[in-house]
Amino acid sequence: MLTKGYAWLPDRLRAENAPVVRTRLMGQRAVCIHGVDAARLFYDERNVHRHGALPEPVKSTLFGHGAVHTLDAADHRRRKSLFTGLLMNREGITDLVERTTAAWDATVANWVVDRPVTLFEEASRVLTEAVFAWVGLPLPPEEVAPVAADLVTMVDGFATPAPRHFKARAARGRQEKRLADIITGIRDGSVEVAPDSAVRAVASHVDERGDLLEPRVAAVEVLNIVRPTVAISWFLTFTGHALHRWPGTRARLARGDREYAVAFAHEVRRFYPFAPFLGGLAARDLTFHGQEIPKGAMVLLDVYGHNHDPALFPDPYTFSPERFLDREIGAFELIPQGGGDPRTGHRCPGEDIVITILAALAPRLARLDHAVPEQDLDIPLNRIPTLPRSRFTLARTEHEEWALDTALTPSG
Ligand code: HEM
Repeated sequence: MLTKGYAWLPDRLRAENAPVVRTRLMGQRAVCIHGVDAARLFYDERNVHRHGALPEPVKSTLFGHGAVHTLDAADHRRRKSLFTGLLMNREGITDLVERTTAAWDATVANWVVDRPVTLFEEASRVLTEAVFAWVGLPLPPEEVAPVAADLVTMVDGFATPAPRHFKARAARGRQEKRLADIITGIRDGSVEVAPDSAVRAVASHVDERGDLLEPRVAAVEVLNIVRPTVAISWFLTFTGHALHRWPGTRARLARGDREYAVAFAHEVRRFYPFAPFLGGLAARDLTFHGQEIPKGAMVLLDVYGHNHDPALFPDPYTFSPERFLDREIGAFELIPQGGGDPRTGHRCPGEDIVITILAALAPRLARLDHAVPEQDLDIPLNRIPTLPRSRFTLARTEHEEWALDTALTPSG
């Protein structure tokens, strides 16, 4: 897994030509499953539990100890309602998107003509500024860049034993401590935040037993809102890459065709690699396509391979937003952020936020006059999470470098 990255699981499944592959991951017996039926099995909580499934290095970097990701049954449903209430309402999403587009427009206005900027870093700061203000903790301008760097570092270091893993642990420690102090301050009245803010909702959330969350766990959950929002920088960087590599998509996006922008957002999430697979523990003895999965075994759901399965997405290595136009997407069909029902299962509650932010910013990027200087745009699949090696550099241009003719050339 460490050497092959995203290709590890799909390659094993292809090589064995079976819907189930047995392997070991971090010393533990694991059973890998693939496909729509696999996703359906995985998201039925009678089959797969999460408690005890996440390895310690992932909890200490990406998600945090005591996070919603690690809960099951009634504990999970109660904690999940906190997230769905905050993240899955139209008014809240519109407010976050407006803050994000305002921060984006102000940032782009400051880009100097012909001076290259790195899209990944710029996007991470825009999203950090917007989401911290949105949760009720606006950052002073000088804190935006260091906090953005910490949030990105937590994501970057979760799946590697390399030094970037230890940077991720340190970044999490810093941000958890800072936010735990704020939670304590909100509760004792020494820190004032808006009564209807997300951070106040987390600070006052009570669990099944009627207890407030430990300040450190509340900090983990605030981070579980701000960190993945900032992680949209990965998809925005891939958006820049897609516009460059598949210029035929640009004209329709630039024209402000909203349905196409949403389809484009889905295709970015499908086409580009982010979450490689998801893991849980078999809650009972299971059978999948005639193969037995014993109770307690680690079950890995193939995500990257699923989103590139030609049976689900014909011609999967062609970037084609059109595949998502004029149709409903099945609950277990497109799973870059998990499958099933986000209100009852573990599917990501931030999916609408991701789609709406991408559908708002991708057309802005498409309309921006910019050049893409020579750089290394290779996206190494053996690195998790991955990005174009250059993190996508672009430079504003004064004159339209991009002619409509180019934009209408069929991509390929
Ligand atoms: C970069 C974009 C994002 C990606 C790729 C992503 C992906 C995922 C994935 C794969 C899961 C795990 C599903 C599972 O365990 O079955 C997840 C869960 C979660 N995501 Fe996201 N997500 C993104 C953005 C967001 C945003 C913007 C938010 C909040 C504002 C968010 C909040 C969460 C939470 C709280 C969970 C835990 C859900 C649970 O365990 O019940 N995510 N996400």
